[in-house]
Amino acid sequence: LQTPGTAFFIFGATGDLAHRKLYPAIYSLYREGKIAEDFAVIGVARRPRTPEQFRSDLRESITEFCRYKIKDEEEWNRFAEHFEYKSLDINNLDGYVELKQHTEALEQKFNIPGNRLFYLALAPELFSSVSLNLKKGGMLDSEGWHRLVIEKPFGYDLPSAEKLNAELNEVFKEEEIYRIDHYLGKEMVQNIEVIRFANAFFEPLWNNKHISNVQITLSETVGVEERGGYYDHAGALRDMGQNHMLQMLTMIAMEPPSRLLAEDIRDEKVKVLRSLRHYNTNEEVGENVVRAQYTGGEKGGKKLPGYREEDKVDPNSNTETYFAARLFVDNFRWAGVPFYIRTGKRLPVKTTEVVVEFKNMPNNVYLGQKHSLEPNLLVIRVNPMEGIYIKINAKNPGTESEIKPTAMEFCQSCLVGINSPEAYERLLHDAANGDSTYFTRWDEVATAWSFIDKIAKAWKEGTPKLETYPAGTWGPQATHDLLAKDGFRWWPVN
Ligand code: BG6
Repeated sequence: LQTPGTAFFIFGATGDLAHRKLYPAIYSLYREGKIAEDFAVIGVARRPRTPEQFRSDLRESITEFCRYKIKDEEEWNRFAEHFEYKSLDINNLDGYVELKQHTEALEQKFNIPGNRLFYLALAPELFSSVSLNLKKGGMLDSEGWHRLVIEKPFGYDLPSAEKLNAELNEVFKEEEIYRIDHYLGKEMVQNIEVIRFANAFFEPLWNNKHISNVQITLSETVGVEERGGYYDHAGALRDMGQNHMLQMLTMIAMEPPSRLLAEDIRDEKVKVLRSLRHYNTNEEVGENVVRAQYTGGEKGGKKLPGYREEDKVDPNSNTETYFAARLFVDNFRWAGVPFYIRTGKRLPVKTTEVVVEFKNMPNNVYLGQKHSLEPNLLVIRVNPMEGIYIKINAKNPGTESEIKPTAMEFCQSCLVGINSPEAYERLLHDAANGDSTYFTRWDEVATAWSFIDKIAKAWKEGTPKLETYPAGTWGPQATHDLLAKDGFRWWPVN
């Protein structure tokens, strides 16, 4: 699908996200013909930048981070010609009036029918004032559509998210707001839907009669890097839990939508969030949620600092860099099935993986085996390796009747290699085409916060206590106990 003629405004044009993700995504879309010649990109940020400097930054970003290499000078010039930079104090209305004139000239030059997409790669505190100034400065007066794309976090809790939403709604309608959760742009996360609804052998088993538990792991090896200031305020629960983890859970647990349309899918997702069992007391939070922070550690002979020693982190900080939880989706399909989720910084490997563990077969036929029968697993690897594998029990060749767990693997990244599209390509393309399927709707955000807020409240009151884990390990013992008390264990990630 080719994107209609669009002016893309990147607020935060000199920032990290634009540099690492957004410009490379636009170049890939251009190379694939998903963006034709009728587009313009207007980079907006405070610091002054000459057009030459901006284009040289752009080239650097694409050379370093894009999955396509620049073809030749001619093609590069043709592409780069669509990019302009505008230095703007985002609180100063006059700047927007200038931006408007500038935009109209570009729209004329590239034959763009007034469609404007505003991507705010900015601190969330600025979302409301920028939106309001866009309106006041006349940026929303063009013919054509206007869409706002914003990054997480959407609020700090439910009340602040409601406030932000009300402010945005003064300028943009819900259907014009595209809230990014970049996990929803990942190929394998989107694939969950296909695996579930297009395969005869999964959907009939996809319920509490056949599935014993589900495990979702989002582990990272990095620490907080340069984001200490933001992270120390947010913590893992808000940074990964409220959004990416709950979104992945909705994809696993939702009912089949009646049609594959954005609103039908999002209706089903929000129903999952509404069915989440809330932990209303501190005791319930203590029983079902673990929080922890990394201390100094070591990996491959290299010393790793503890969280409290990181740059811009309060040396007495009680912010969690890890959390794990046992969740229940209290509906007909999932009654009684625990969903275990965990995420953390400074864990041994970078991975995103979903393990669906099936119930055991009756063991009576195979009594007397050396090892007890292992359950069947369906493992969906989201990144960095993309693929699926199914663990089944088969006969160990050459033995009389010994059983051996065997993996049947589908390695998507082996086939598509580095050419698997990046999440941001898909998301930018979808937003410009008006497809909001893989963006979070307001009611999803609000419902997720209402669940998360109760955990945050118990933590604030000190329950459960903050555990620690040495950097480079799989989190505290409490996280293993969480499963052990149900008779399960975390399956090792691959
Ligand atoms: C972001 C978080 O949303 O996701 C980061 O703010 C985290 O803290 C990142 O590192 C992980 O994303 P990915 O795509 O690398 O798994």
